[in-house]
Amino acid sequence: MINIGVIGVGYWGPNLIRNFVANPETDIQICCDLNRDRLKYITSLYPALSTTIDYQEVIKDNDLALVAVCTPVNTHYEIAKAALNAGKHVLIEKPMTANSKQAEELIQLAQKQSRRIFVDHTFIYTGAVRKIKEYIQNGELGDLFYFDSVRVNLGMFQHDVNVLWDLAPHDVSIMHCLLGEKAESVVATGSVHLNNNLEDVAYLSIYYPNNLIAHIHTNWLSPVKIRQTLIAGSKKMIVWDDNQPSEKVRVYDKGIDVIQNADQVYNMLIQYRTGDMHCPRLDSTEALATEVDHIVECLNQNKPSPA
Ligand SMILES: NC(=O)c1ccc[n+]([C@@H]2O[C@H](COP(=O)([O-])OP(=O)(O)OC[C@H]3O[C@@H](n4cnc5c(N)ncnc54)[C@H](O)[C@@H]3O)[C@@H](O)[C@H]2O)c1
Repeated sequence: MINIGVIGVGYWGPNLIRNFVANPETDIQICCDLNRDRLKYITSLYPALSTTIDYQEVIKDNDLALVAVCTPVNTHYEIAKAALNAGKHVLIEKPMTANSKQAEELIQLAQKQSRRIFVDHTFIYTGAVRKIKEYIQNGELGDLFYFDSVRVNLGMFQHDVNVLWDLAPHDVSIMHCLLGEKAESVVATGSVHLNNNLEDVAYLSIYYPNNLIAHIHTNWLSPVKIRQTLIAGSKKMIVWDDNQPSEKVRVYDKGIDVIQNADQVYNMLIQYRTGDMHCPRLDSTEALATEVDHIVECLNQNKPSPA
């Protein structure tokens, strides 16, 4: 049994708690939040839970193997560092830290302490991403051309990070999981309209080897919520619309064949290929449940946590 403490029970923390409670191999013992109303709420759901407003009490609890950090981003580094120093494994909410230097420090500390860091990159555990990964690994899409994602909505403004740092970790983790490639270069632009000098509209381009390009569009000022990703390959193309209640992933047998005329290179023949579209059946298990299973497996079988 893996004993767990959760720090931060605002919007997202209770989702983790629900999944830790449901998993037969994890036992959630204590929760912490600065806000006593949140602690009242969580004990109304799980009366056996101990609570505290001081995260040090969780860190110092010798019965715990793992501490989940579900507080705002600017607190992740300090709390995770204290937990690692106390010999705990940590699950940190995305984005892992407020900057990459802090993340690198935590990774080094975890190695020194022989402890694990898990980052809650929830989307990589969804049925949609796991199915798309199957298509890519089977070679069904052919050579990958691009990954294009739109992740926009009205709010929810964060007070400590900009829209890119808040939303793009989802796409970056998805790409890392799907492509397994290391980016060669990155360009990001954005602009501030309302929020305390934090960009609320931002665009990220990532260049991978073999001419694979990715673009992520994040926005807190959109009148509509869009969660749409296009992934195109030389053989097939995928449209993943995460807002759809069903048929989220559509695979199109569409593409373009370019036939070079050897004598006249400027005289290319373009052939459009339009085949069928199909929607695969997706595993509908809640992503966090699969993620908790994976954390248990990594800890019990001494497997590395995913990057
Ligand atoms: N994986 C996902 O899909 C997903 C979704 C939403 C949010 N998140 C992430 O979860 C984290 C929390 O986001 P949220 O939306 O739940 O925020 P939130 O503001 O709703 O909740 C954060 C909670 O942490 C508490 N808190 C702050 N500082 C604390 C401290 N020092 N000690 C104890 N408690 C403290 C606050 O009182 C609050 O209740 C963020 O990193 C966010 O990016 C992840």
